[in-house]
Amino acid sequence: MKPAVICVFLLFLLSLHCRAHRIAHSSIQKDAVNRGSRQLVLDGKTHVNLGDPVDCPSDDLSRCSLHSDEGRHDIIDAEAVSSRLQGGGGGEEEEEEESEHAGRERRHGEAGESGRFVLGESAKVIKTEAGELRVTTHGGISNELGTRRIGLGFLTLEPNGLLLPHYVDAHCVFFVRRGRGRLTWVDNDELHHVDLERGDIYKLESGTVFHILNLDEGQRLRIFSIFDTVSVFSGEAFHNFFVGGGEKPRTVLSGFDKSVLATAFKASGGEITDVLSYQTSGGIIYSIQRNESFGTFNRKAGDKPYNIFDKEVAFSNDYGYTATVDEDDFSPLGDVHKSAFLVRLKAGALLAPHWNPRATEIAFVTKGEGEIHIVYPNGTTAATESVQKGDVFYVPQNFPVCQIASRNGPFEFVGFSTSSKPSRPQFLAGRNSVLNGLDIDLVASSYNIPAEHMEDFLGRQNESVILPGEPLPIARAAVK
Ligand SMILES: *[C@@H]1O[C@H](CO)[C@@H](O)[C@H](O)[C@H]1NC(C)=O
Ligand SMILES: *[C@@H]1O[C@H](CO)[C@@H](O)[C@H](O)[C@H]1NC(C)=O
Ligand SMILES: *[C@@H]1O[C@H](CO)[C@@H](O)[C@H](O)[C@H]1NC(C)=O
Repeated sequence: MKPAVICVFLLFLLSLHCRAHRIAHSSIQKDAVNRGSRQLVLDGKTHVNLGDPVDCPSDDLSRCSLHSDEGRHDIIDAEAVSSRLQGGGGGEEEEEEESEHAGRERRHGEAGESGRFVLGESAKVIKTEAGELRVTTHGGISNELGTRRIGLGFLTLEPNGLLLPHYVDAHCVFFVRRGRGRLTWVDNDELHHVDLERGDIYKLESGTVFHILNLDEGQRLRIFSIFDTVSVFSGEAFHNFFVGGGEKPRTVLSGFDKSVLATAFKASGGEITDVLSYQTSGGIIYSIQRNESFGTFNRKAGDKPYNIFDKEVAFSNDYGYTATVDEDDFSPLGDVHKSAFLVRLKAGALLAPHWNPRATEIAFVTKGEGEIHIVYPNGTTAATESVQKGDVFYVPQNFPVCQIASRNGPFEFVGFSTSSKPSRPQFLAGRNSVLNGLDIDLVASSYNIPAEHMEDFLGRQNESVILPGEPLPIARAAVK
């Protein structure tokens, strides 16, 4: 009798506790909502900020749910979003977005040798209230890329922002970092468009007239692109030739004699003057609302871009993941000899020292901060650079490199490599090290140390590709 009463009383207490917990939980969510509505939009849906732990003690969870279906839904939803955030990589990007810009001013003149590997500040080509286009300038770009005249572009369009029709004298590959937009181009008088979203890779041939519109009312569209010039014109890596504009941006029409244009268009000199003078807003404007319904976001099967998140991750372990898109995945990349990659390292983790036998890599830091270590062929340090979100670094083909995430949080970068073939990095450390591929006695004698020492040395790191940063292997060995 007594135990039964105690039991009922305990159940009553438990239900009170769960109710109180639910209230506390929902007020946490409200706070999150109030703190920043910008953090709430994720994949077009509204969710709470997941920086706040959902702290229903796990052993209470099932019992709480007996009393509150509502609470349980919250938790499930939060978990689903949380795993999507981790999987997707760039979900939290909204937060510090304002401070972002491509490249950093302080790099100029400061870096010496290492400035060759972390690129200087990019230059504003267009800046209007509807968006911004920055490019790496020829002078600011490292020697190799400058010589090859490869350029990088950073496009930001506000909601409804439109980059006016133009073409460039370079093949370009786009990497959509954020938001959703519509790329429209003309080919043989025919209008094509492709709808792009985060993670999409797409390619355009040089000389193709195109424009880009941000379709998402709720967020900016950010596109990182690489331009591989076909121009013999010296100077910058590539050039924009506007065909839509007027006074500003100045179109290529403005360079012709009025009389030539009058004849060509069968128009009067006055009409020509008018047409070429009305637009004064710059290269990016707010588009005029049209009747097209952008509400449903359908991809056309024909011109489908390739999404880097669609792919089975190329490599993934407890310490991070890497994904690449090469010509095997998306054949148009073969035409322009480029591929794209994404690397995400957890706090403290490192991408094992390796080299890229097939390509030079150019990367843009999209999250967190870390260090880039690059080595010269003669075994001296070429660069030890701290980089953070917004920086661009480059790793020459065959130069050994190691990227290390700071201890404070994940480090993520995306980029392009100068080959469309699968990259086949060669690793120095880790289970798949080239040193482990060689005969152990030969390796030992080439280092002139006993074979059993060498075997122990090479056998300690049991992970590959992405390695844990701590505890340090030495410390771990000592503990054992
Ligand atoms: C938009 O729709 C209205 C009527 O529904 C029509 O008169 C107008 O021509 C349309 N505009 C465009 C650009 O299609
Ligand atoms: C190693 O190579 C780099 C780059 O070519 C050069 O600057 C450096 O002086 C070399 N160091 C040694 C010790 O040979
Ligand atoms: C490596 O060793 C650690 C500790 O012994 C273990 O937790 C981990 O699962 C191992 N990793 C692999 C890939 O075998």
